Amino acid sequence: MNILQNGTQFTLYKEKDCIGRAELSQNRVAALEIVPRWRRRGYGSYLLKELLRRSGGFDRAVESTFTASLPAADNAAAWALAARFGFTAQGGQLVRRRVPDISAVTLCHEFLRTHCPAGGLYLDATCGNGHDTLFLCQLAGSEGRVVGLDIQPAAVEATNRRLTDAGYSSVGRAVLLDHARLLEVAAPGTADCVLFNFGWLPGADHSVHSTADGSLKALEAALQALRPGGVLAAVLYSGRVIGDGEKQAALAWFRALPLTRYTVLVCEFANWDKTAPLPCFAIKRPI
Ligand SMILES: C[S@@+](CC[C@H](N)C(=O)[O-])C[C@H]1O[C@@H](n2cnc3c(N)ncnc32)[C@H](O)[C@@H]1O
Repeated sequence: MNILQNGTQFTLYKEKDCIGRAELSQNRVAALEIVPRWRRRGYGSYLLKELLRRSGGFDRAVESTFTASLPAADNAAAWALAARFGFTAQGGQLVRRRVPDISAVTLCHEFLRTHCPAGGLYLDATCGNGHDTLFLCQLAGSEGRVVGLDIQPAAVEATNRRLTDAGYSSVGRAVLLDHARLLEVAAPGTADCVLFNFGWLPGADHSVHSTADGSLKALEAALQALRPGGVLAAVLYSGRVIGDGEKQAALAWFRALPLTRYTVLVCEFANWDKTAPLPCFAIKRPI
């Protein structure tokens, strides 16, 4: 099976035979046809799936909308195909609309976006490949300052490369430092946000990961680093490789913070497995 694309035109080949064609222009499926003798064998699904995939229609992180004309009322196969891929009739046409999934990390980012002012001091206590550090740089803006920490040189290099490539090297930098020592890069009471995304470095040796002992020391240091009104955000993980110890210890630590000084949120994905990532927040109350 092969699909050749020429601009907005897609042609489906089975070996050398052309068995279907489709047109996708500005996310509108303008045509989709399978040669009659090849119908009812899944080739329409295959072609439509590929059209959507190539245009980002299955990207969980991105919003997308696709449209198509309504099929004839008696074309049950076309209606079934449309339904299989999430198209519904709306306003005289078929529409397929997807919004980005919420992940633990996107939830954290959204929370920080609404609680952290530009121009502040932000710490990424587990910079890894630098996605979160870059996000914090975008949040901090040109007047802000971001420091990323990691114990793995490969993570520090990857983060600094990402920041340079994105034009943020004057806002943020990553340093090789255990996050338990984060007060060495932020004086007490000065940080607007400290973000932890615990666990291991994606793409590296999974045996190098944060641990309960070190993480609790780092969380304590993070609270000291925060200014009043500042936010501590942490995504906790558990699972086969890292076990459950760090997640439970950190969770107990969050729950024990005194209400008079901190507002604490634990945002559970309530209908997932118990190994679901767990975003937690502590906002230091203004005195
Ligand atoms: C899940 S990754 C972080 C992902 C990262 N924030 C990103 O956006 O790519 C966890 C990172 O924490 C780092 N880490 C583990 N223990 C640490 C410690 N004690 N101090 C600082 N970083 C640590 C790991 O090396 C790993 O790179």
